[in-house]
Amino acid sequence: MTRPAVSDPNPTWWRQAAVYQIYPRSFADTTGDGLGDLPGVTAHMNYLSALGIDAIWLSPFYPSALADGGYDVDDYRDVDPRLGTLADFDALVAAAHDAGIRVIVDIVPNHSSDRHAWFQAALAAAPGSPERARYHFLDGLGADGELPPSDWISHFGGGAWTRVIEQRGPNAGRPGQWYLHLFAKEQPDFNWDNPEVREDFHTTLRFWADRGVDGFRVDVAHALAKDMALPLRSKTILDIEVDDGTDPLFDRDAVHDIFAGWRRVLNEYDPPKAAVAEAWVPFTNRRLKYARPTELGQAFNFDLLQAPFDAVEFRAIAEKCLVEADASGASSTWVFSNHDVVRHPSRYAVDGVSTREEMEAWLMSGGTVPPADLERGLRRARAATLFMLGLPGSAYLFQGEELGLFEVADLPEDALADPTWFRSNHRVKGRDGCRVPLPWDATAANFGFGGPPWLPQPDWFAHKAASVQDGAAGSTLEMYRAALSWRRKLQAEESLAWVSEPAATVSRYRRPNGWEVITNFGKAPAALPSDVVLAKVVLSSGEPAASLIPGETTYWLAP
Ligand code: GLC
Repeated sequence: MTRPAVSDPNPTWWRQAAVYQIYPRSFADTTGDGLGDLPGVTAHMNYLSALGIDAIWLSPFYPSALADGGYDVDDYRDVDPRLGTLADFDALVAAAHDAGIRVIVDIVPNHSSDRHAWFQAALAAAPGSPERARYHFLDGLGADGELPPSDWISHFGGGAWTRVIEQRGPNAGRPGQWYLHLFAKEQPDFNWDNPEVREDFHTTLRFWADRGVDGFRVDVAHALAKDMALPLRSKTILDIEVDDGTDPLFDRDAVHDIFAGWRRVLNEYDPPKAAVAEAWVPFTNRRLKYARPTELGQAFNFDLLQAPFDAVEFRAIAEKCLVEADASGASSTWVFSNHDVVRHPSRYAVDGVSTREEMEAWLMSGGTVPPADLERGLRRARAATLFMLGLPGSAYLFQGEELGLFEVADLPEDALADPTWFRSNHRVKGRDGCRVPLPWDATAANFGFGGPPWLPQPDWFAHKAASVQDGAAGSTLEMYRAALSWRRKLQAEESLAWVSEPAATVSRYRRPNGWEVITNFGKAPAALPSDVVLAKVVLSSGEPAASLIPGETTYWLAP
């Protein structure tokens, strides 16, 4: 399918876009060093175009020591030399735009890396200096400042404060102040009360916008504003505890002032740049504030991602999110997989494992306890994906889900790279299992990824490689291609009507133009409603059957 180049100024392209997340270090390696790179993305533009997505979202490709897979940024306005150059970036954007694909880049504003010039300057400066004021440096508690300023903990395990050795002043050479890091100790948190920090991120937004990017994904958007009034308030869990904006660390009301400023920058462009917040805020009314037209425009909604494969739950989530997106002037977003969670065909393969803790225990067992029914997991994942791709709003897809990849749950421990593994003292494996470099070619070395990949690929990748699925009837790759192509053709106004009863196991909704999505969430086949004509089934996540819909299967009906 050929599509027009990105030249139309449509300012609302993002409202119902299919956005494909690329984790650049795991996508395709053209240099043979085992790390994916930007030319690797450009080289696969035909693949992305044939897949039928509207945009790519690039996870961080900035210079980084990879303490957190690139979410520890040394320099926000450059490319990691191992991944390419700014010229490679420009070539990628040009190739994407030629192929009709827009480009979203990841901005990480909560923290820099500890190698960032500002943090290095802060370490070298004295307590109380303007250099330190760009981050959160505080004196410790206890007689000698030997205790951290608060009991806050970090996302990857351990405390959220690290003490530095002073380089200046009367204490030079001795332990001194502490700095805050809600993630790894290599990720010091910025002080967003400092106008210099705000201004610098505006410069970064303009830097990439001027290079032609179409939008931004905003990392940990809900954490930027913090209550640092002394004495710091106690908080020993890393979840949001209240829904009124008074949590000391997350989703504080002041954060919206920051994003209103970002929107003003994004609106300097014509069409305005799009943005989507990563805000793990469980209260939808609060989450949607990030998505207001006066702020970022969209916020990720992880509700479906966190739900079991269940008709009633899926429907309730879809209904709620659509109503609330509408009320905020945003469009809804939908996600099943990303670089932070167990891939959805594996999640659906293990019954009775739903909480994060249960998933972590399952990963620690190498994906064996409880045993996974992978065939069923994939069947459900395909059905869930077609349920989701029919909904109004934007679909965010994670690289490899179009190949039906499972989590690599049994990575050898000595290969693990996620800071979670180290900071939990090897009690939590972390997120490497969804980040294993992609299998492109079943018969090539390293499955066509490039050099020996930075995370080892399992043998079963041979059956999942793009080369095997390309053109193969019924393959997951062909299902995604067909779905994205139909979605483009059928795209309708942003609303739907439920045809099925709320408690039904077979759910059915209809878009305003007559496009219908019927999902049988049950295990057993179900009779098709009498008014459904099989001839109108244009797409199925499983083998369609006369007058039936097989268990755990979705049908699409064209008007
Ligand atoms: C976000 C990213 C995750 C990263 C964290 C810290 O949640 O998606 O990968 O570790 O922020 O930047």
